[in-house]
Amino acid sequence: MIKINNVYKKFGELEVLENVTIDIKKGEIVSIIGPSGSGKSTLLRCINKLEDINLGDIYVDGKKIDKNISKKVGMVFQGFNLFPHKTVLENVIEAPIIVKKLKRKKAIAIADKLLKKVGLTDKKDVYPSKLSGGQKQRVAIARALAMEPEVLLFDEPTSALDPELIGEVLNVIKELANEDITMVIVTHQMQFAKEISDRIVFMDEGKIIEKGDPKQLFNNPNEKRLRRFLKRVI
Ligand SMILES: Nc1ncnc2c1ncn2[C@@H]1O[C@H](COP(=O)(O)OP(=O)(O)OP(=O)(O)O)[C@@H](O)[C@H]1O
Ligand SMILES: [Mg+2]
Repeated sequence: MIKINNVYKKFGELEVLENVTIDIKKGEIVSIIGPSGSGKSTLLRCINKLEDINLGDIYVDGKKIDKNISKKVGMVFQGFNLFPHKTVLENVIEAPIIVKKLKRKKAIAIADKLLKKVGLTDKKDVYPSKLSGGQKQRVAIARALAMEPEVLLFDEPTSALDPELIGEVLNVIKELANEDITMVIVTHQMQFAKEISDRIVFMDEGKIIEKGDPKQLFNNPNEKRLRRFLKRVI
């Protein structure tokens, strides 16, 4: 579903991604972990064409990514990015109507289902400012799902949340894991990553240092840098 081949990305002189290669199968859930500044967000942003790469190739569903990629690949950011002047429901139906040209009625039917799924049916006519952080993030997830993406990217979806609100968002993501959607999740929640992922990728200084099965990678890391990282964060 996602094929990343020898990707290099620079910001000016700064090499941020260096020879990154990874294949992600349909329905697979891959978590990316690693220290701050290691290039995790940049990699996600390259998959979604929010950044251009300098070298290498990225394919989604067999096609080289282009500017239409947002129809196939959804993204949930750390900071929710909801439209403040739109209600919860309006936030969720916006892109399906504008980008996918769905009829309003159809978009609302889809949104109703998704808001139910994330447990926010009773908040659909409320503005984002009246929501908790966890609720906002659940709206952001419903909004991404409304485009019926084949791939969903999460960039630290819980890092802006108070500890007591993290669980409700992780639970929503866990439920999605049972569906067919391919997910790439950048997270600092190691326990969550271990539970939900089919595979873990550890990045440091723009490179993939180690990747593998969650149990093996967390319990028996090969690389010294990963061992040091895990000791620090767990
Ligand atoms: N738009 C930009 N212009 C210049 N440098 C950038 C830009 N975006 C990111 N960088 C640099 O690229 C490197 C990787 O950043 P990135 O945001 O991908 O790291 P990260 O692994 O997501 O870190 P964190 O865990 O803190 O979110 C950092 O050194 C950062 O300063
Ligand atoms: Mg980041």
